[in-house]
Amino acid sequence: MKKTIFGRSQKLYKKAKKLIPGGTQLLSKRPEMHLPEYWPAYYSRAKGCEVWDLDGKKYVDMSYMGIGSCLIGYADDDINRAVKSAVEKGSMNTLNAPEEVELAELLMKLHPWARMVRYARSGGEAMSQAVRIARAKTGRDIVLFCGYHGWHDWYLSSNLADRKSLDGHLLPGLSPHGVPRALKGTSYPFNYNNTKQFLGLMRKYGKNTGAVILESIRNSEPEKEFVTTIRRETKKRGIVLIVDEITAGFRLNAGGAHMLYGLKPDIAVFAKGISNGFPMAAILGTGKVMEVAQGTFISSTYWTDRIGPSAAVATIKKFMKFKVHKHLVKMGKMVQNGWQKLARDNGLEIHVGGMYPLGHFSFTHKKPLVLKTLFTQFMLVEGILATTAFYASYAHKEKHVRKYLEAVNRAFRFISKAVKTGKPEKFLAGPVCHSGFKRLT
Ligand SMILES: Cc1ncc(COP(=O)(O)O)c(C=O)c1O
Repeated sequence: MKKTIFGRSQKLYKKAKKLIPGGTQLLSKRPEMHLPEYWPAYYSRAKGCEVWDLDGKKYVDMSYMGIGSCLIGYADDDINRAVKSAVEKGSMNTLNAPEEVELAELLMKLHPWARMVRYARSGGEAMSQAVRIARAKTGRDIVLFCGYHGWHDWYLSSNLADRKSLDGHLLPGLSPHGVPRALKGTSYPFNYNNTKQFLGLMRKYGKNTGAVILESIRNSEPEKEFVTTIRRETKKRGIVLIVDEITAGFRLNAGGAHMLYGLKPDIAVFAKGISNGFPMAAILGTGKVMEVAQGTFISSTYWTDRIGPSAAVATIKKFMKFKVHKHLVKMGKMVQNGWQKLARDNGLEIHVGGMYPLGHFSFTHKKPLVLKTLFTQFMLVEGILATTAFYASYAHKEKHVRKYLEAVNRAFRFISKAVKTGKPEKFLAGPVCHSGFKRLT
């Protein structure tokens, strides 16, 4: 693998690391998370599921599609038209954007249990808004949660009491440096589908708990007992139940996945899934809970721009018109079945997980990260951006999946041979990828 073929991107990234601490604003966009020293790092343009890097090399993105934000596909004509119209008509103003009300009506229609909505622009800040509303409503500080919900103090404070507290919740190694120590003991995690553990926390902290937070679905479907226990206990104790739909929403149905599992929350939070890569977030709730947002100061200038709601309205309309979720499930299922079969055919052991539109696998081997890095390295040479996950989009058609699986077959064959040598790391062109949050050198 020649370093020169990714010359410009990696050169720019080296410069970026000197100017931007951490190199980028999002952990998952660090090249070190995928293929240190070789990942193309920057794009010049993108369309559908194709991406061109700074050296003009084209890739098919069979990985994270804008880290889960582009469910329709890059630079979609219909959504871009709505955004261009917002730009032409003035994307910021002293007055408000009427699309905010159109979006509110659309979201209420899809979620009949909800009565009101507030907006933000990113997932973490929307979750912080929801937590503030829940604490204001209940007058209680403690938050019990499972899953990843962003970078804010309320969430990271969980690692003040136990530095490994968040390790089982998507991103390991998150550091709480800079989070006030006074927040210790204000948030506690529980594991998804672990009803017993949740009940234990309820017994210990229920009286002082203001919010319980979970994703509607992530790696596995919620068990009925888990969902009904959480709803029963939160209702009984007057705790606000918040469902995070930032990544799950609109992938399995037109709306929040909680509706598929009979989960009726007090608040549901949507962000990166609803606007095809344009910044937008919505905090949806019952009237009783959302009214509280009037009595606590929650306000920000750029939460009023016109691009976000215009993009969200156009995206949601497209989701509904083309039943996009059905396509995402179909593509995701093809990929997951393909991984399983090709691993078997090539004598590799893998574990496959995740709902179909958000599938992932891991190598069952004593050096899983070495094999993961080898996979990304091999696929990149094939012209495919790939990691051990596939986030389906409407732009991925069967022909992309077929070509991808042919390349996966070759990659697995190569990895299988590398494993048989007993030293698979010898086949790496650069360092092993990172598995979580780490200081960069
Ligand atoms: C479930 C969930 N909640 C919250 C967030 C944070 O969203 P953002 O990165 O837009 O702040 C993410 C991001 O990956 C997420 O997956």
